[in-house]
Amino acid sequence: MSHPPSPFVDTLLRPLRDLRISLTDRCNLRCTYCMPREVFGKDFVFLPRAQLLSFEEIERVARLFVGLGVRKLRLSGGEPLLRHGVERLIEKLAKLQCPDGQGVELAMTTNGVLLAKKAQTLKDAGLTRLTVSLDGLADATFKLMSDSAATVSSVLDGIAAAQAVGLAPIKVNTVIKRGVNEHEIIPLVRHFRHSGIIVRFIEFMDVGSTNGWEMDQVVSAREILDRINQEYPLQAIAANYSGEVAKRWAHQDGGGEIGVIASVTGAFCSDCSRIRLSTDGKLYTCLFATHGVDLRDPLRRQCSDGTLTRLIENTWAQRSDRYSQLRRAATLRPSRKIEMSYIGG
Ligand code: GTP
Ligand code: 5AD
Ligand code: SF4
Ligand code: SF4
Repeated sequence: MSHPPSPFVDTLLRPLRDLRISLTDRCNLRCTYCMPREVFGKDFVFLPRAQLLSFEEIERVARLFVGLGVRKLRLSGGEPLLRHGVERLIEKLAKLQCPDGQGVELAMTTNGVLLAKKAQTLKDAGLTRLTVSLDGLADATFKLMSDSAATVSSVLDGIAAAQAVGLAPIKVNTVIKRGVNEHEIIPLVRHFRHSGIIVRFIEFMDVGSTNGWEMDQVVSAREILDRINQEYPLQAIAANYSGEVAKRWAHQDGGGEIGVIASVTGAFCSDCSRIRLSTDGKLYTCLFATHGVDLRDPLRRQCSDGTLTRLIENTWAQRSDRYSQLRRAATLRPSRKIEMSYIGG
């Protein structure tokens, strides 16, 4: 998929194409790499409901972004299916049109636990496609990664339901953490071969301030690919679009596609076209940002579309973030990074 030229770019000449919206900072899982149950002896503190953007506010912001060249809206969280009446928001967003008359791509990243119940209504509301997080096929691994009583079969049932209602393509995101779930790589590849579902393996990242990240817990994309190649020979395939996060690979025997996301060893900042809207309406120009630009206050003060648009344009025009590219410099360790669940993974 190629994109038309964007009307404006950031300081590194990157266009704005992709808005990720966190619908809630809450989750029904507690993945240790994202939202560990206990942080420094305390549980996570979640936002009170009044601080969340309403669906009307989200729709307004999304409409302005689409007018500025955004082509993809991704709903995430936390767990977006926990947001009551999410289908109502999807219906609104699905009606948005890009300036060239094309519809926007409307995607969601979910943990899949509630998906079996929701797949049909999501599809009916106008969701285009879906990514489901799943870190292993064995319940024991899943429990270790997600620290919850949810089962692998509930997620697999959700994926099957989404496939049955025609949400496509479905992608599965698997974060690999050394010593915890690298033994799940081959079973996951085997399970999803010939299914049309694309599994993507993600290097464990130092996002947020709570997951105790250490470099030796990262299994590199290279190592992941080597392991798969030994069992299932792969060949590289071209990116779907400029700035795609995952590198794509195909089974040589026609068994389908997999992906690897080298968030740590192969930074992809140079063409990062993503901006994030947090649960409480702040704009973050990088996953690793420490500061966001508040949109909620101007929204609630009834600012005009023009004023809001200029705020967004200025935020993007000043953007110079490239955290992953710089991470190797020892000096780069911001003390308080924002959690991914709040900022929209
Ligand atoms: P497609 O639209 O299907 O290409 O999905 P996507 O890759 O844009 O979105 P997804 O949410 O599935 O991203 C997969 C994973 O890549 C995320 O869960 C993150 O771990 C990582 N990731 C996504 N965006 C960024 C980013 O901007 N920076 C970094 N460092 N990692 C990212
Ligand atoms: N490293 C890599 N990916 C992460 N995700 C959440 N935290 C991390 C991390 N520390 C991914 C999950 C999910 C999405 C919401 O974000 O796998 O697919
Ligand atoms: Fe929830 Fe996703 Fe974070 Fe896991 S990674 S705790 S499923 S938001
Ligand atoms: Fe984009 Fe920041 Fe991620 Fe780099 S680290 S790819 S700039 S979000």
